[in-house]
Amino acid sequence: MKDRGMIVAGVMSGTSADGINVALVRFGQNRRKAKMSLAGGAFEFLGHAEYPYPTKTRKAVLSAMNASAASVAELARLNFLLGELYSDAVTATERRFQFKSDLVGCHGQTLYHQGEPTTFLSRRVTATWQTGEAAIVAAQVGVPVVSDFRPADMAAGGQGAPLVPFLDYMLFRDRYLGRIVQNIGGIANLTAIPAGAAADEVIAFDTGPGNMVIDAVTQTLFHKSFDRGGSIAASGMLIESALARAMRHNFLRKKPPKTAGREEFGREFVESFLQSCGKRPKADIVRSATALTAKSITAAVLRVATETKGAAKRKPFHEMILSGGGAKNSTLVSMLRAELGSIGIRLRFSDEFGLPAAAKEAVAFALLAHETWHRRPSNLPSATGARRAVVLGKICYPQFSR
Ligand SMILES: Nc1ncnc2c1ncn2[C@@H]1O[C@H](COP(=O)(O)OP(=O)(O)O)[C@@H](O)[C@H]1O
Ligand SMILES: [Mg+2]
Repeated sequence: MKDRGMIVAGVMSGTSADGINVALVRFGQNRRKAKMSLAGGAFEFLGHAEYPYPTKTRKAVLSAMNASAASVAELARLNFLLGELYSDAVTATERRFQFKSDLVGCHGQTLYHQGEPTTFLSRRVTATWQTGEAAIVAAQVGVPVVSDFRPADMAAGGQGAPLVPFLDYMLFRDRYLGRIVQNIGGIANLTAIPAGAAADEVIAFDTGPGNMVIDAVTQTLFHKSFDRGGSIAASGMLIESALARAMRHNFLRKKPPKTAGREEFGREFVESFLQSCGKRPKADIVRSATALTAKSITAAVLRVATETKGAAKRKPFHEMILSGGGAKNSTLVSMLRAELGSIGIRLRFSDEFGLPAAAKEAVAFALLAHETWHRRPSNLPSATGARRAVVLGKICYPQFSR
């Protein structure tokens, strides 16, 4: 029989609500045949494509996320509409790279995430909601779909996030190098993998805003959805006082593990940030928002590097591997390079490892779907705080086969 392996389409749409990323990944093929293989040949990256949301869709998604009161009918429709958009994105990617997938792993669009318990109607509950109807995707693409990855981890006492460290650990662990894998999406998160670490030694948490605040101030002040290449920020000057004030945000001072979203760095935060910038030139404000991302990442790295666990021991980190849309913001990247250089950490990009920066999270959900399909657990309890490793997600079967 021809060894074609199992092809999984990973579908991600993050908190930036910029659009949909689809990655095609082949698992379990004969190692020697894989053209470009990751994790020592355990899987092969076949291709990645990005589909920006139409402007009105992005607006609808953002307002659903930020809403204190939303129409149930609209949320229900949004769920089905996103299912259609995810299906279109997967089939377009299959056509583009000429591969048919056997399975889809679809993260969905997070509308709400609260990883820590709060009292609700006299019971302590955590809550999360990823929308984008998997039944639609299964029907349209014609293969099983794994979705809703986060609740199982939360049911096991975890925060339901971050889940990508499972991939980070698989791809980037090294016997001799301590590595920080840093993704800069809407929110920025890191996975710290000390040299020679076992899975339970991996530390992962959200570091704070990624592109979310930069996007919001750029939209408000320049009517552009993001600061392409970081060119606006490059032309501005830092407003020290606004940066210092923002760095005092409760989330940034909190001890990890911790997760953030629009609840922390959404509309309200941006309004107060803009206020603290006063009447300074608009480009200065974009620069300061960019500096906030760089500074909060560096602060988190310093914290990890000096953290004590049991007997006080300092873990040396040698490299940071960058991914996510923020890796394309040159101003942000140079700020990071300067800050990290001063503590002896070299900046690298996931692209250097055969994984395009924008594709990493989509690849992660292909991997998690593959593990679920084989009934294997794929959360890292050290990252999410869960009591144990569990099988993540729900599986939706197509009603017909292609
Ligand atoms: N060329 C670019 N220059 C600057 N920023 C970019 C560029 N491309 C993408 N980005 C930023 O990356 C964000 C999307 O990053 P992504 O990793 O998709 O985040 P998320 O996972 O939250 O969707 C955009 O909103 C934008 O801020
Ligand atoms: Mg995105």
